[in-house]
Amino acid sequence: MSVSLLCNRVLGCRNAFHTFSRRFIIDMSYSQHFMDYKRSAIPSSMKKMMATKRSPNFREAVSVQILPVPTPNDHELLIRNRYVGINASDINYSAGRYDPSVSPPFPVGFEGVGEVVALGLSASSRFAVGDTVGYLNDGAFAEYTLVSAGKVIPLKEPQPEALAVIVSGATALIALQRLGELKHGETVLVTAAAGGTGHFAVQFAKMAGCHVVGTCSSPEKVEFLKSIGCDRPINYKEEDLATTLRREYPKGVDVVYESVGGAVFDLAVNNLAQNGRLLVVGFISGYQSESGLQPVRGATLPAKLLQKSASVRGFFLPHFLSDYSECVLKAMQMQEKGKLLCAIDDGQMDKEGRFVGLESVYRAIDYMYAGKNQGKVVVEMNP
Ligand SMILES: NC(=O)c1ccc[n+]([C@@H]2O[C@H](COP(=O)([O-])OP(=O)(O)OC[C@H]3O[C@@H](n4cnc5c(N)ncnc54)[C@H](OP(=O)(O)O)[C@@H]3O)[C@@H](O)[C@H]2O)c1
Repeated sequence: MSVSLLCNRVLGCRNAFHTFSRRFIIDMSYSQHFMDYKRSAIPSSMKKMMATKRSPNFREAVSVQILPVPTPNDHELLIRNRYVGINASDINYSAGRYDPSVSPPFPVGFEGVGEVVALGLSASSRFAVGDTVGYLNDGAFAEYTLVSAGKVIPLKEPQPEALAVIVSGATALIALQRLGELKHGETVLVTAAAGGTGHFAVQFAKMAGCHVVGTCSSPEKVEFLKSIGCDRPINYKEEDLATTLRREYPKGVDVVYESVGGAVFDLAVNNLAQNGRLLVVGFISGYQSESGLQPVRGATLPAKLLQKSASVRGFFLPHFLSDYSECVLKAMQMQEKGKLLCAIDDGQMDKEGRFVGLESVYRAIDYMYAGKNQGKVVVEMNP
């Protein structure tokens, strides 16, 4: 097939090459093609964040580089990112904790929402230039990201709400479904409850008919938690968490969705009810340290679990990919029907303003680690 035939078929336009100065199809073999999006040129280079050394200090580890815009292989999509999501683990990743065998330089950022601007031939059987998609893939902190067509989620609109579901919502739904064993009327404690994954855990636990207690660090977050149905928000800066739990939940809590670690993990263990389940979703209080961990009272753990027939269960999203597509779809449908709030924090309340442009990723991570966010932190790439 000739260059112009192929291009006209996809873009549905005539004389496209004469009208616009742009990058042409690079590889004309049957297995690869490269196309422009809405007649706009795909630049030859782009900004992309790369970890050039391993460090939990994201600013030290990661720099913005100018790199060639990659060409999609047969099964790949080239996505122009519109929104990218910030995760607490972005600094675990930059510290090389996810896969210590990967040496710098390596790309960072886990998730994005954007438009397909080019694609390989096999990928074109399911997607077309101009489609909106979301994805969970390394290298999201870039203007353009290559993703295998099998890994993307088709979307109606490039909305940041979809982004909230891709990691944060999926984690809460799958962890509670698979490990929580929630029963109607049980008490669920969610730590970092107003955050990206926490606010989903609160809502899913409420949907399961549970009484939900949520920890947070400000009066504004208390109000936010009330608005999403949290029965007992606890601002731990104003109330002592251990005292409040002992006083108001003397039999303990049945399930803990725990993502803070260290002293909060110990406190959660101490406040488990008989047959309680503590889900270890993360331990953010340690991530900025060299080891990534805060000490916990491990020596007494076996005795405490035995005395209550309780359990501690680890959860890591990549180990539950068999549930992933179904849960993401379910969460997105709930959001569309207005049954699930995907709260987005784009830095509107930050003194420096909204997170816009790739360089804002640094500021967005600092903002999250200062405990300022309500809901999922997102950065807009191309307004
Ligand atoms: N296991 C998995 O597969 C998986 C997937 C996604 C997320 N996670 C985990 O879920 C947790 C939350 O991640 P996220 O991306 O959704 O972040 P997030 O909850 O949106 O933001 C982090 C929040 O943690 C709270 N926090 C408590 N102690 C903190 C400390 N010492 N330093 C910084 N923040 C602290 C802050 O809220 P307050 O100030 O209100 O306490 C802060 O807003 C993390 O532990 C993360 O690793 C795990």
